[in-house]
Amino acid sequence: GRKFFVGGNWKCNGTIEEVKKNVSMLNEAEVPSEEIVEVVVAPPFVFLSFVKSLLRSDFQVAAQNCWVRKGGAFTGEISAEMLVNLGIPWVILGHSERRLLLGETNEVVADKVAYALSQGLKVIACVGETLEQRESGSTLDVVAAQTKALADQISNWSNVVLAYEPVWAIGTGKVATPVQAQEVHSELRKWLKENVSAEVAETTRIIYGGSVNGGNCKELAVQPDVDGFLVGGASLKPEFIDIIKSAL
Ligand code: 13P
Repeated sequence: GRKFFVGGNWKCNGTIEEVKKNVSMLNEAEVPSEEIVEVVVAPPFVFLSFVKSLLRSDFQVAAQNCWVRKGGAFTGEISAEMLVNLGIPWVILGHSERRLLLGETNEVVADKVAYALSQGLKVIACVGETLEQRESGSTLDVVAAQTKALADQISNWSNVVLAYEPVWAIGTGKVATPVQAQEVHSELRKWLKENVSAEVAETTRIIYGGSVNGGNCKELAVQPDVDGFLVGGASLKPEFIDIIKSAL
C-alpha cells in the first residue's frame, strides 16, 4: 500500500523562538512509526538548517519553493542544488499561493518539478481549483490540466507526492467534505492510470490540503484515495500530532 504522508507547510510564519517551540512540540510527540506515516515539515528557507539540526530523525524537512532551473544570477532565489547541498530532501512546488500571488503557471510549476527531481529532490506537487472554477463545474478539468503539465515533463513519479488543495479550502476553515476530496482524488488517480500508467496511479500518494485540523482529519483519512495531508495553519499547533495519528 501507499504509506500515509503528513506534511506541515509553515508558510511565511514564525520567529526563531516560535520555530524552537514548534520543533520541541514535534520532538516530544508520540506518533506512529516511520513505517506507518511519513512526516515532513516545511519551514521558511531561513529556518531550514536550524530546523533540520534540531528535528527528530524520523521526521523530514522540506523547502516551500525553489528556483526553476540551475542557480546563477537570479537575485533572491534559492536553487534546488542548494537544497540538496543542505541535506534537505523535499520541496513543495506549485502551491496555489505561488500560482496565484506570484504568477506561477502550470508550465513553470512543471519546469520546477522536473528540475528539482533531476537534482534528486523529492517533490510535493500541488494542484487545485479556485471557488469560481468549482462553481462553474471545471474542477476536474483544472486539476487534470495541472497534472498533465507535470506528466508532460516527468517520467519517473516515484519521488512525487501529489497534493490536492482546493483554493477555496485553504486558510478558510471550509474543509472539503470527505466525499468532495475522495471524488477529486479518485479522478486524479484515474487520470494517472489513463495518461501515465497503472503502476504510477497505484503507487503515487495523493494527499489533501485545505483547512485540515485535528477534528476533521480522521473522516478524510479513511477515504480510499486520500493518502495523507498537507497542513497549513494546524501544522503550527499541537493538533498537528492528532493529524499525524490519523494515519492509524
Ligand atoms: P490551511 O491548512 O491553513 O488551510 O493551509 C493548507 C495549505 O495551503 C497547505 O499547503
